[in-house]
Amino acid sequence: MLVELREIDNARVISLTMFVAPLNTALEGSRMKKRVAVVGATGIAGQQAVVALQDHPWFDIALLAASERSAGKTYADAIRDEKTGARRWWCAQEPSDKVLRLPVHNAATLNLRGIDVVFSCVESDVARILEPEFARTTPVISTASAFRYEDDVPILVPGVNLEHAHLLEIQRKRRGWQGFITPLPNCTTTGLVITLKPLLDCFGIERVLMTSLQGISGAGRSPGVLALDIVDNIIPYIVGEEEKVARETGKILGRLVEGGIAAAPFPVSATCTRASVIEGHTESVFVSLERATSVGEFAARLREFGQDFIRLGLPSAPQRMITVHDDPFRPQPRLDRDADGGMTTHVGRIREDAALPRGFKYVLLSHNTKMGAAKGAVLIAEYLAAENYL
Ligand SMILES: NC(=O)c1ccc[n+]([C@@H]2O[C@H](COP(=O)([O-])OP(=O)(O)OC[C@H]3O[C@@H](n4cnc5c(N)ncnc54)[C@H](OP(=O)(O)O)[C@@H]3O)[C@@H](O)[C@H]2O)c1
Repeated sequence: MLVELREIDNARVISLTMFVAPLNTALEGSRMKKRVAVVGATGIAGQQAVVALQDHPWFDIALLAASERSAGKTYADAIRDEKTGARRWWCAQEPSDKVLRLPVHNAATLNLRGIDVVFSCVESDVARILEPEFARTTPVISTASAFRYEDDVPILVPGVNLEHAHLLEIQRKRRGWQGFITPLPNCTTTGLVITLKPLLDCFGIERVLMTSLQGISGAGRSPGVLALDIVDNIIPYIVGEEEKVARETGKILGRLVEGGIAAAPFPVSATCTRASVIEGHTESVFVSLERATSVGEFAARLREFGQDFIRLGLPSAPQRMITVHDDPFRPQPRLDRDADGGMTTHVGRIREDAALPRGFKYVLLSHNTKMGAAKGAVLIAEYLAAENYL
């Protein structure tokens, strides 16, 4: 048993640390695996969910669902282009034969009997209709934005704000659901909050300025980004993205209060662009701290961040929440995005910045379809399973 008796302010983390080792062993027996559904299984985030779940020690893919277009086909046929016959498969890892043979159901008429958790990987307008139906009986972990801004809905980020999971009980009671909805943040917010959390805790934050260069997979398959538009180019606007980053950062780094979350009070100003990179969101971040520090201390706090969470030993967790690079030519999407299973956030180019009071700047890289979407959702599910929320 892993028993950490050091002081941690989050009581749930202490209880989980004591609990996770026996749970790990228990769930690894396949008869004990939780049965999961992946909705939106044919899309980019859905395919990453399939890959993250198909050999999972705690979860078993029992149901796949997508739109009417895919319903009634096997998964192999649903991901095959009808005109060309090409397999529209996204991930580096192949889908298993078992998954390829599974039928794809119509998400609108899905029967969730016997399902322990739904991974919802659909667009927000679809999620708004489907997810409350699912949540009546079953916990839903969602990559969509539909419910992110509601008072009783936490936006959970591994290692950052897991104490916000407390809101799930309030949500259940308030809405009369047996399940709940817990969304991930927008994939651009994920790396940003992971790097800001240790800075907020150690030095306080006055303001944040961020410019992103986001991978094209972040736009999904439909409507996606046309190669003709993006190759040899940078697109300077992503509809709605900057507002999402500002709002979600405040909520995730905020405090639990009676019935909701009080947003962190510092302003976040973002410019979000799309770059000619397939996977990986790069962000140039300027932060004004409340208390002065040195580059060495700044980097040390990032390097150390999240060790209590990593020690929980959850199957999809990275070895490091943040990987700090000293080489000024890193991080780079092609070289770094897949390190540590695509689950670590890379930080490089840490410097002081004279234009801001107590200013620092750095470059981060986060894998948008792994930590930023499906595999991040699986990591949250592992935490919630260990904490008896599932
Ligand atoms: N891509 C990323 O990096 C990323 C990162 C974080 C969050 N997200 C979020 O994840 C969600 C999915 O994004 P994506 O990039 O995977 O999109 P995508 O590639 O366009 O896939 C969309 C999926 O939704 C299904 N779908 C469409 N209409 C439906 C309906 N009426 N009922 C049920 N299923 C329906 C599609 O099924 P068919 O094949 O049958 O049409 C497909 O499986 C979005 O909310 C997005 O914001 C994406």
